[in-house]
Order: sequence, then C-alpha cells, then structure tokens
Amino acid sequence: MPGSQNFDDNFLREMNARQLWHPMAHPAESRANLPVILTSGQGVRVTDIDGNEVVDAVGGLWNVNLGYSSEPVKQAIADQLAALPYANIFRGVSNDKIIRLAHETVDFFAPDGMARAFFTSGGSDSVETALRLARQYHKVNGAPSRTKFLSLKKGYHGTHFGGASVNGNANFRTQYEPLMAGCFHIPAPYSYRNPFNETDPAALAASCIAALEDEIRFQGASTIAAFIMEPVLGAGGVIPPHHSFMPMVREVCDRHGILLIADEVITGFGRTGAWSGSRLWGVKPDMMCIAKAITSGYFPLGATMINERIADAFEADSSGTAAIGHGYTYSGHPVGAAAALAALAETRRLDVVSNAAARGTQLFDGMLSLAAHYPVVGDVRGGHGLMAAFELVRDREAKTPIDGKLAVKMQKSAYAAGALIRVSGPNVILSPSLIIEEADIDIILGALEAGLKAIS
Ligand SMILES: Cc1ncc(COP(=O)(O)O)c(C=O)c1O
Repeated sequence: MPGSQNFDDNFLREMNARQLWHPMAHPAESRANLPVILTSGQGVRVTDIDGNEVVDAVGGLWNVNLGYSSEPVKQAIADQLAALPYANIFRGVSNDKIIRLAHETVDFFAPDGMARAFFTSGGSDSVETALRLARQYHKVNGAPSRTKFLSLKKGYHGTHFGGASVNGNANFRTQYEPLMAGCFHIPAPYSYRNPFNETDPAALAASCIAALEDEIRFQGASTIAAFIMEPVLGAGGVIPPHHSFMPMVREVCDRHGILLIADEVITGFGRTGAWSGSRLWGVKPDMMCIAKAITSGYFPLGATMINERIADAFEADSSGTAAIGHGYTYSGHPVGAAAALAALAETRRLDVVSNAAARGTQLFDGMLSLAAHYPVVGDVRGGHGLMAAFELVRDREAKTPIDGKLAVKMQKSAYAAGALIRVSGPNVILSPSLIIEEADIDIILGALEAGLKAIS
C-alpha cells in the first residue's frame, strides 16, 4: 500500500544508487535520477513502490513472455527447489530435468534443424558457447585456420568479450577495447540509416550481401569460422531485415563453408509471430543461441542449439579434438530446467505465437498512426510480432537524433500515463509479454502518445 512502509521505502530510494550499479547506465546518472522501483508483477502489469500499477510494455527485458503470473512455472520452480535445488552436469553426472529439457528444446527447434542442446546461464553465455563451438567445429573438421567471425553493425550479442567483439554498436564496445581480434562487421539492413543511402529494403539487403561477399573475399573464406546475426535485430533498435536477407546470408555462408549462427535470444519462442526468427525467414542455421523466454525470465537459463552437421562432426571424432573444454557451473541447473519445461509447455498450450502476431500488428499499426501526428518520430520499426521501436529525431529532414534526456522525459510521461516503456539512446523499444490483450496494447499506445506529446 502506498505510504504504509515509509521507512523501508525511503531506505530503498536512498540506497538504490549508493550501493547498486545498474547495467547499461552511467552511475552518476543513476544517482541523480531515481529509477522506478518495482515490487510486484501480475499478468502483464508491474507495481512500483508507490503503488502505481502500469502495463509492462518491455515484458521484463524481452523475456517475460508469459507475463508475471504463470503459476505452472512458479510451481515447477518451487517443486524442483524441494526435490533437487542444484546439480552439475560436468563429465559423469546428469539429472532428470536437464535430460527432459534437452529433449523438449531439440523437439521445439527441430523444424530449424537443431539436434543437440548445450545449456548456459543466459544469452551472453549462449553466444560465447556458439562462437567457441564454431571454432572447435572447424578444428575437428580439419580446417583450423577458420577462426574469424563476421557479424552485423547494430547487432547485439551480449556482453562477454566474444559477444562484445561481434557486437555492432559502439556503446557496448568502445570502453572495453581492445576486443577480440578477428571480428569484422558488415552494414546492417537498416533502411533508415545506412552507408548506401538506400531506402528500399530489398535493394538494401542486396547491397549488404554484396558487402558481406566483399568482406569474405578480403579476409579469405578459409579464415572465417562463422557469421552471427539476429534474425530481427533487437537491442540495436528493432531492425527487421527484408525477407530476402537471411536466406541470402545462408546461401553465401554455405558457398564459403562458413557456419551461420542465429542469435535468437530475443526472437526464439514466438516473439516475432513465428516460433523462431529463423523460421520466420525460412532459414535453417547451424547453431541457435536462446535464453530469456526459455523460462519466461523466471530463472536465468539459456542454451546453444546445434544442428546435425556439427553434432555429427563432434560425435564422430576419435582424436580428442572434440572434447568440449567449455561449460558453466549452471549448465545443467535442475531448477532452471524445471522452469523451462513448464514455460515451454505453457508457451505451446497458450499458442503465444498467434497472439504475438495479432497484437504485434495492432501495436505496429497504432505506432504508425502516432508517427503521422508527431514529427519527433523519425522512424517506426516492427511489423513482425511483439517487437517494435520508435526512433526519435529532433529534425525529420536531417534525421538528427534527439537528446537522450528527451527520451527519458518521454519514458516518464508514458509511465505516468500507464505503461513502462524502454528508451535506449534515441530509440523507444517495446517488447511486451506475448499474452498481452488488445485493451492493454491500447493502454500502451495511449501512454506512447502521452510521451510523444510531452516531448513535442
Ligand atoms: C540478441 C541477444 N543476444 C544476446 C543477449 C545477451 O543475453 P543476456 O543479457 O541474457 O546475457 C541479448 C540480451 O538482450 C540479446 O538481445
């Protein structure tokens, strides 16, 4: 209840930035501006310390796909805590839940060609695992010179050194350089801004592919291990490529013996209106990185999924090269596995993918109409399920990005109007739970309008 715990609440407000450093924020900025302090969540709503209840238009962080009230997932976690709260699965040990989860995830991603699962503690771990296994695959396969990685500018692949090295956004790189050697980036199929000055998505996709071919020629195909991409770029500002893009990437990779890693940390499990981003584009990658919605965010867990070709090479090796010298303390966490088993069952039972497609269209259409009235919106991106973004500009003609402070002002006004939204640089990023209903999308759109009014 608001005001009923003044002493505790004031302690939390006072102490937040004194002892806690926030990811992806300047510590001084966090000290100067009090964040929203959440205390509970129910359905698609979260409640803060002052008792304000708002629709969570961020869906946790692209992960709480089932909303905050999935009793089967909560129960599965509680039951597993009672039965076996932890177990490792390093050489010689396994557990019932992780074996079942491997079976379920392989089944879930079988249409994408996946055949094996390697579990991790989250998305960054899944990316790291995929990059390492890609190099190892080529060593196992007699091509040890294939060590380099290619990726997209604007792409986001988490924050480990490997992932940060293939990341395509200076914000996540500059202060941590030097990053890993041997990582090269090609222009993203981002039609609002690109070096080709190309606004037509199909033509832009072709230009980006030409740049990819050029980079491969320059580096030498025999030095490249893998190309990693998000099927729809998420954290970089929701950039859906033209539908021709990922199939062309697959074709180029195949022609040059380069593995294709799909980073599906956001796009896995229905967010795009298809069960995976690769399926959305009709592509079968060699590996997939998954995390986030695998437990609906209720427990930190991820996985690297591996196709038959890679599995065969590793499993047929008799030289020892294929021994996996990689893994995490939590690679077989039974509580995470139990959470994921329940979340997967709920994800299928609720057919969240259909709702993501329908509500995603409603959200995107609503955002397009808002953009028509507010010139501060430079670009609206989305149209594939429940991931959408506004890119805000000071001047539509010149596409000058707005001051980050204005984006924060928009976030505050939207919150007051009933929705928690996310701002990242000049982008407003939306990724609500996949169980969201029509009326809640209307609340988000109303809150976005309040936010746009406040900065127009
Ligand atoms: C595409 C992608 N890959 C990797 C990651 C990193 O995941 P985590 O934050 O769980 O380490 C993220 C996180 O947002 C992501 O969006």
